[in-house]
Amino acid sequence: MDQRTDSSQKLGEERRNSAALEYMPGFGNDFETEALPGALPQGRNSPQKCAYGLYGEQLSGTAFTAPSHQNERTWCYRIRPSVKHTSRFRKIDLPLWKSAPNVCDDVVSLGQYRWDPVPHSGDELTWLTGMRTMTTAGDVNTQVGMASHIYLVTKSMEDEYFFSADSELLVVPQEGVLRFCTELGVIELEPKEIAILPRGLVYRVEVIEGPARGFVCENYGQKFELPGRGPIGANCMANRRDFKAPVAHFEDREAPSTVTVKWCGQFHETKIGHSPLDVVAWHGNYAPCKYDLRNYCPIGSILFDHPDPSIFTVLTAPSGVPGTANIDFVLFRERWMVMEDTFRPPWYHKNIMSELMGNIYGQYDAKPQGFIPGGMSLHNMMLPHGPDNTAFEGASNADLKPEKLDNTMSFMFETRFPQHLTEFAAKDAPLQDDYIDCWDSLEKKFDGTPEGTWNK
Ligand SMILES: [Fe+2]
Repeated sequence: MDQRTDSSQKLGEERRNSAALEYMPGFGNDFETEALPGALPQGRNSPQKCAYGLYGEQLSGTAFTAPSHQNERTWCYRIRPSVKHTSRFRKIDLPLWKSAPNVCDDVVSLGQYRWDPVPHSGDELTWLTGMRTMTTAGDVNTQVGMASHIYLVTKSMEDEYFFSADSELLVVPQEGVLRFCTELGVIELEPKEIAILPRGLVYRVEVIEGPARGFVCENYGQKFELPGRGPIGANCMANRRDFKAPVAHFEDREAPSTVTVKWCGQFHETKIGHSPLDVVAWHGNYAPCKYDLRNYCPIGSILFDHPDPSIFTVLTAPSGVPGTANIDFVLFRERWMVMEDTFRPPWYHKNIMSELMGNIYGQYDAKPQGFIPGGMSLHNMMLPHGPDNTAFEGASNADLKPEKLDNTMSFMFETRFPQHLTEFAAKDAPLQDDYIDCWDSLEKKFDGTPEGTWNK
């Protein structure tokens, strides 16, 4: 029996029913939102007594003294302060959700790897039990690096809540629809969209359409931000206005509940007697958001050659070294190819950064086969990779008319740190043992003559 109480809950429910899918536009804006009229103090943060008997509380996403253009915090006005939303902790095990450093003795991370989509099992899996770590990089304790995960979710969390003190999560759905009921409002997320869940934000994940599968980049480091556009100017790539933050929504729900906390790579559970999603009003610039990847405006070459894939960066999480990201989130989507006398697919290369890719839908131009929706690939630090023979021969001999790359959406989590495979990725996930063979049939075309053996 649902133990919802009092009239404020009713007001909250009405608000949710009419406004669950309301969002506020802008990336990193200073938002303000209230689920009950007059709940948000005006012109100040800490009145002696808050309206509705709420508690004022600050959620700091950056150090107090971070430069003002990077400083992020949100003031929450909530039914109970967060000290009531945890109690004593006990450690629990989520054995498939790993954190860096996680270097396994009997796993070889050096290699070009590709996986088929991880299949759904018959098990009921929540956001927590359905998370499977594929790679880890850096060190969660020193807040550098990342982990990549696949989620397989079939079951909503009920009276269960979660927050990660370790990381912000970038969620990239590939299948199914999820609802993230967070302290700061509700976000619904479907394939072709992404969401950012900030470090410390408490939420519950519900399945709207299942089963749900997708990718998660767990960022241990500095927050994701929009990349500088340099000479491109003020427009294109990801535009600020297309990011959406939720409006305030609260639950006044008395029920035995569990809060799970990820902290320094370990999971802890605590029991409380109510929903912690009790923020009635908030203002600030530290908030979850979502973004529709179909709004990403790609930039490319319009005469010959093509730029580095960094031209497709949607979000970047900086490291301490300028231009060298802890993580870049890069999108390869539909676009026109018009370059003359140019090998148009991604070129062969070795990269100091480590590239983990996932396919959201369609066909990727450098690998016409084998890299399928839901699948992943890993090209680790300084490991060569590039088009397979089919892509190379096709692109080398193509009649170079303007051509639209259609029905394609893949992404890359690219990090400055080497990525280590988990045991799950190496032994349980559907690894394609023959991926390395995709370059086998590339021929030597050099015979000492300027024309090579192209036509022989
Ligand atoms: Fe690459």
